[in-house]
Amino acid sequence: MSSRRARTHAGMRKAWAGRLGGRTAPLVEAFTTSLPVDRALFPHDIAGSVAHVRALVRARLLTRAEGARLERGLGSVRRELERGQFRFHPADEDIHMAVERRLTELIGPLGGKLHTGRSRNDQVALDLRLWLRAECEAMDAALRGVQRALLKLARRHRNALLPGYTHLQRAQPILLAHHLLAYREMLARDRSRFRDCRERADELPLGAGALAGAGFALDRPFVARQLGFARVAANSIDAVADRDAAAEFLAAAAITMVHLSRLGEEIVLWASEEFGFVELPDAFATGSSMMPQKKNPDVAELVRGRTGRVIGALVALLTMLKGLPLAYNRDLQEDKPALFDAARTLRDAAAVLTAMVPRLAFRTRRMAAAADGLLLATDVADVLVERGVPFREAHEIVGGLVRHCLATGTGLREVDAKTLRTHSPLLTPALVRRLTPARSVARRRVLGGTAPREVARQLARAEREDGR
Ligand code: ARG
Repeated sequence: MSSRRARTHAGMRKAWAGRLGGRTAPLVEAFTTSLPVDRALFPHDIAGSVAHVRALVRARLLTRAEGARLERGLGSVRRELERGQFRFHPADEDIHMAVERRLTELIGPLGGKLHTGRSRNDQVALDLRLWLRAECEAMDAALRGVQRALLKLARRHRNALLPGYTHLQRAQPILLAHHLLAYREMLARDRSRFRDCRERADELPLGAGALAGAGFALDRPFVARQLGFARVAANSIDAVADRDAAAEFLAAAAITMVHLSRLGEEIVLWASEEFGFVELPDAFATGSSMMPQKKNPDVAELVRGRTGRVIGALVALLTMLKGLPLAYNRDLQEDKPALFDAARTLRDAAAVLTAMVPRLAFRTRRMAAAADGLLLATDVADVLVERGVPFREAHEIVGGLVRHCLATGTGLREVDAKTLRTHSPLLTPALVRRLTPARSVARRRVLGGTAPREVARQLARAEREDGR
């Protein structure tokens, strides 16, 4: 081996040593490596290699004995990686090269046959799809956890009332369970997005080679079966250049994180003294280093605050892709930091919310009191409508009545008979005294409404779909 051939700084021979002379600059090795990130792919990388070995045996490019030795060698490499005994080399560039380098150290030159008919381009596309498939499943379980936490809380507060808001102004009384179940719906859609992503990611890229397709008769449907893929990627160029599944995953993750962030924001608001709706569990709050009275909602704030990272990962990936000509370009390596960071951020957020949400202590009396008063104005209008007044007219009558209440500091229920009559002959003290937040929600029995009966139906459906 000529000493002029491409070597690493430490003297290891590079995979492309035939073509390039001299050494790769250490600065370049450090700049181009993806190992610190993609080493997490090792279980998928080795599973992919085992399937590839079997395809090579099937194509008679390896004898059965060679295939068996390669599989045993890959098993040893996997065990070293699992036990943390694997020694990475600075020149290993990425997990694919590291595994092959170690395999060859362990079993000798036969290790050099592993890469027959394969390129790192289809190899990394394969690893990524295997990772995405598993991660979509993990995400489904994590989000189901948050849903069940919400459900648990909703069940505990079947009849608790609070003001519903629009424009962050008190709007109409609603049931707390109804409000919590709104988040459960968002998460149900998120889970279905991850299911869709998994479904479309379920294609085998291996066999595409560098871009043109392997030059050997590799049985791709056989490899797909080995790895549990539903389909074989139809076009070898697309197979190595495409990162749609990563983009879909990050889009689903970004939307989900936005949902968790909105929940986080509500928890922050509710825990404030101004709202005073919720008491955080001590184990999920922090204090101030200076102000002894403080109890801060840092968990909810960080869920909100980390959302930018996940949105950023989606933007980074799409921006990286938008100018790439076909097929593989090294830029594609940047898919993994974005994916791994986003997945971890989302999973951590889901886990901490799953633990915290059921332990939120609601101040239900204070919430119900906040849901009373002028929030019942719509109900007065609704009663007038029931007596034949056109809704627009009823709205104006009650608007005038509300103005009277605000100007005189009178509650809606306390307005005297004479004043009521001046607003509408149909309004009587008996009628307005019947108004309560509980009756207000009970009226809203439409499908999907906030009436207890309807919320109970939503709860039962959620329990059927998400488990108890
Ligand atoms: N580390 C690379 C990546 O993550 C693997 C593929 C490299 N292929 C190549 N031709 N340099 O995308």
